[in-house]
Amino acid sequence: MKYGVSYYPEHKTEEERKADLALLKQSGINTVRMGEFAWCRMEPSEGNFSFGWLEEVVEELGEAGIRTILCTPTACPPAWLVEKHPDILYMDNRRIRRPFGGRRHYCYNHETYRAYSVRIAEEMARAFAGNPYVAGVQIDNEPAQEGTGRCCCPVCEEKFRAYLRQEYGSIENFNRRSGSIFWSQEYEDFSQIPLPVNTIETGARNLIDAYYENPTLRLQFERFCSRSQKEYQDLQAKALRRYLQVPVTTNATGLATNSIDYYDSTEGLDRYAFDFYPSLRDAEVDSFPYAFARGVKDGTPFWVLEFMSGGGHRLGGSGRLQPNPGAMKQAVVQSMAHGGEMMLHFQFRTYPFGAEQLNYAIVDMDGIPRRRYREMQETAELLRKLEPLEGAAFPGEAAVCFDYDSHWALRIKPVNDPAFHYVDYCGKLYHYLENIGVTADVVSLKRDWSRYRVVILPAAIIMSPEQQEKVRHYVEQGGTVVATFLTSVKNEDNVGYTQSLPAGLTKVFGSVVEEVEPVFEENHTKLRLCMESYEALCHMEETEDNLLETSDGLWSELLGGVSETLGSYTEGYKEGAKVVSAFSYGRGRAYYVGTDLEPEACRIFLKGVMKEAGVRRSLVEREEGVELVTRRGHEEDYLFLFNFTARETEVKLPAGCRDYLTGKPLGEKCRIARNGILIAGFSNKSAAGGRTGSYGRTV
Ligand code: GAL
Repeated sequence: MKYGVSYYPEHKTEEERKADLALLKQSGINTVRMGEFAWCRMEPSEGNFSFGWLEEVVEELGEAGIRTILCTPTACPPAWLVEKHPDILYMDNRRIRRPFGGRRHYCYNHETYRAYSVRIAEEMARAFAGNPYVAGVQIDNEPAQEGTGRCCCPVCEEKFRAYLRQEYGSIENFNRRSGSIFWSQEYEDFSQIPLPVNTIETGARNLIDAYYENPTLRLQFERFCSRSQKEYQDLQAKALRRYLQVPVTTNATGLATNSIDYYDSTEGLDRYAFDFYPSLRDAEVDSFPYAFARGVKDGTPFWVLEFMSGGGHRLGGSGRLQPNPGAMKQAVVQSMAHGGEMMLHFQFRTYPFGAEQLNYAIVDMDGIPRRRYREMQETAELLRKLEPLEGAAFPGEAAVCFDYDSHWALRIKPVNDPAFHYVDYCGKLYHYLENIGVTADVVSLKRDWSRYRVVILPAAIIMSPEQQEKVRHYVEQGGTVVATFLTSVKNEDNVGYTQSLPAGLTKVFGSVVEEVEPVFEENHTKLRLCMESYEALCHMEETEDNLLETSDGLWSELLGGVSETLGSYTEGYKEGAKVVSAFSYGRGRAYYVGTDLEPEACRIFLKGVMKEAGVRRSLVEREEGVELVTRRGHEEDYLFLFNFTARETEVKLPAGCRDYLTGKPLGEKCRIARNGILIAGFSNKSAAGGRTGSYGRTV
């Protein structure tokens, strides 16, 4: 694993740099990330390039075994460039230009800015061509972050119109497909189409509240901005590859911002990389962003280019808590367990100046190494011991589908807001699987699903006819789909289907949605999972009389149709109405879950689904807050356990495990320290090729 920090040699005096480099070399890390934001040193005036200062540091670290991730500096266009071309400045949805003085003040669509960006990237690549100490390149810094993903300048407006022309061919077609007749918005020409004034962008504000714009236009603007960012990155990637043969990527913001469709935007990049700042103080580090990261490029290992390094002051906030001792180490190993190939802390030494002055880092402003530095050293050492595990496979039997169109559409026109959020809901289902011992992947609607036994499809509100066909084919061929409420409601234009819901899929699910409503406090309704008809659930000890009393949540869909009833309402006017259904279609099974089941009910339901589909579960008894990740080696499964509870914990393992780090056999009951890690190896030989696991009983 590549492990290290971000470092800013351009900030340091000669003396400070010397001391920092000495510490870096003693730390045991093998990677540093440098250069982003340093345009004014790389090209102090137009056309005068200077990389010697950076090369010196790269060389010195390289000779000590530390390789560099070079960054293009384009998140910070320098003063001379902005002075000469003020029209490259970013314009937000209020049509206000972002002035020089912060960062990310540029329009990614502007041809002038694109040309300058390509040139600096190319010059940097030329300067480092053949340098053995360069391990990779990061383009820009956090594209779209801090409300810079929806530029509304005149250049963007023109390009958006051209994009629509390309997508729809004629204005008549656009009018028809977008329903422009609504509120008298039909256009005679693409040149009349405005950019939406309201935005779903994180960090930006709506220009006019209660101003409801055409949902097709808004979704198209999301797609357009995302594609524009991709174009901008790809131009830089192409320039870099003229001289450098190392992986090229950019640091995304994971599931935090989501202004960019990363499935699409990373197609021209070698890795998906992201930045992640979870709390490390008595908190569980959410692994859903990691599972997502692994799925972005279909299983390619991901990079975390910025990760927590400590607490104290922070940018634009009241501060950040220090991590518990051991929590950084634990979090780094957790990311490796989930498929991380690189983890770099942000950053090495606290800045005394600039917008991020005083902010947390591994080493404080005075340059004296303290506990976080020592923990980084220990982590580097531990990672070396874990290297053999890096190639272990993921079970790859179950997946959760995460899709950008549905995510964007559900923010443009929210459902049960703020209780229901698409990203959170996908994460919730992913975590239920983790709770029952299934390490799931995250997939897009576009990727091949054939390797999975089960795909969970949460609230896929937008589905094109091709995507419906994909689901149908998958089930027909023997796959199991668990779709939730809000499936296939609108088409790719973000326009509702006029056939019965789930549109195009009623035959696959055997269910038809007959009535829908949000679930609030006042209409929370009891239901029963009726399992008589459901063989897999019938024998479950958790149930009495094969019935599980529970209640609905978030959204409610009453189902008709020929499907089996697994869940039905037991009160009010909904009494007797079907809300959870199962149906055999082709060689597969299709479940429709018309509401958000309570956690325990949902876990029980999912256990039944996994059993029926032959998905192996790793059975480790543990309390909430202890995460389990399963990796599959040739001879052994590796059960990674992370104790995120704020105390010591005890887990019950399947018999026959050994401690991977000591090689010693493990008893059935094991204690894991607060913020501790246990890696148990467990022979999987007898399981080879089997449908059910070699360990544990499946219930
Ligand atoms: C990230 C950014 C870094 C730094 C960090 C927090 O979003 O990429 O440059 O600002 O946040 O300090």
